[in-house]
Amino acid sequence: MWNGRFSQPTADLVLQYGESVSYDRKMYRHDIAGSIAHARAQMNAGLLTPEEFEAIRDGLTGILADIEAGNFTWSTRLEDVHMNIESELTRRIGPAGAKLHTARSRNDQVATDTRLYCRAEIDTTLHLLRDMQRALVMKAEEYAEVRIPGYTHLQRAQPVTVGHHLLAYVEMLERDTARLRDCRTRVNISPLGSGAIAGSTINLDRRAIAAELGFDGVTENSMDAIADRDYILETLFCLSLIGTHLSRLSEDLVLWSSAEFGYCTLSDAHTTGSSLMPQKKNPDVCELTRGKSGRLYGNLVSVMVAVKGLPLTYNRDLQEDKEPLFDSFETVSLALRVNAEMVAAMRINPERCAAAVSDPLLLATDLADYLVRRGVPFRRAHELVGKAVALAVGSGTPLNKLTQEQFRSISPEYGDDVYSVFDLNRAFALRTNPGAPNAANTARRLAYWKEHLA
Ligand code: ARG
Repeated sequence: MWNGRFSQPTADLVLQYGESVSYDRKMYRHDIAGSIAHARAQMNAGLLTPEEFEAIRDGLTGILADIEAGNFTWSTRLEDVHMNIESELTRRIGPAGAKLHTARSRNDQVATDTRLYCRAEIDTTLHLLRDMQRALVMKAEEYAEVRIPGYTHLQRAQPVTVGHHLLAYVEMLERDTARLRDCRTRVNISPLGSGAIAGSTINLDRRAIAAELGFDGVTENSMDAIADRDYILETLFCLSLIGTHLSRLSEDLVLWSSAEFGYCTLSDAHTTGSSLMPQKKNPDVCELTRGKSGRLYGNLVSVMVAVKGLPLTYNRDLQEDKEPLFDSFETVSLALRVNAEMVAAMRINPERCAAAVSDPLLLATDLADYLVRRGVPFRRAHELVGKAVALAVGSGTPLNKLTQEQFRSISPEYGDDVYSVFDLNRAFALRTNPGAPNAANTARRLAYWKEHLA
């Protein structure tokens, strides 16, 4: 492709070091779509005859079919997906193929391909996020009113429900969806026509090319367009945060499925055994998801670091953006699919949940609120309940089994009706504010999600 200036062929090790076709061939469909749009603009500018354009278009369509059928020979000698396809086109159709690269560089070509790739994968990820949300909503509805302890510091805090807990993840994934959609608006801008750095003296209709490729607009600065990888970084961040959310869910399910908690049972199909210990049933999917979230951050950081010191505009370092990008999409897509399946197949064990949530200490804060309603300032109420808890724990008595005398010995503010506080139905019913775990809120939110995700 650049024989004119060189008197030695590229060294084998340099070819091996620099080739990207072994992975960037994944973008062949986008590369071909971009080339067809570019060729059409060349025809419209009078640079190609209609016959030449048709030869290019049909040649590229034939190459596309051959690639999809597995009948295309990729060559690392031709470095990347762009040169492999262009050189094969010229081999097939002759001189018209050699005109295709007019007013184009691999620099705007690769930016176009990666933007089209990101856009397509974002759209797939958005669907998979929906599926994952549906699985969580289905499970939240199935066990909407099963009560469990909620935790802070992984210590029992206050009662919540399985429905409320699982719907928390649906909210997170909804933010992931909004973030990815917003990111897509910046991904979906066409850099084609920026050339190597400074556009071209041959001016093709950039807006027409962009429209043909489904872009929402064209980039406004050729140097920015060539140097920019923000759309990749943003995408990698969005994928990292999806990974974070799945990782936190994983950790909850690792705990819930342990003998110590016993709140849930994962299906045999979504767990693995031990080669040594016959009794084991391990939550590997959760652990892998937790582990792979680290890999997603690694991908984000490696591209951040690759970009940060680069002078404008294109530098070959930028070739290092692709493997992390591809890997993050593949990782998140598989993670969403397997987690949706696993959540859909998981069972909640209501008896274990009921046993855990019957701990009266979970209502210590409600007891303080009870005193507040009787006119005790909260800080004082907190102290009076703290004393009751100390007495209960110290004497091995459940908090709700302290006698009236014991409560009164701590403070006369404790009335005869103090035991009503330990009614879980009351505890949930009193939490009427939006966002609180009461049955009506959960039902309302479930209805919202079912409609929203339909
Ligand atoms: N394979 C290259 C990449 O991924 C394509 C652009 C090459 N441009 C260049 N000037 N060498 O970035």
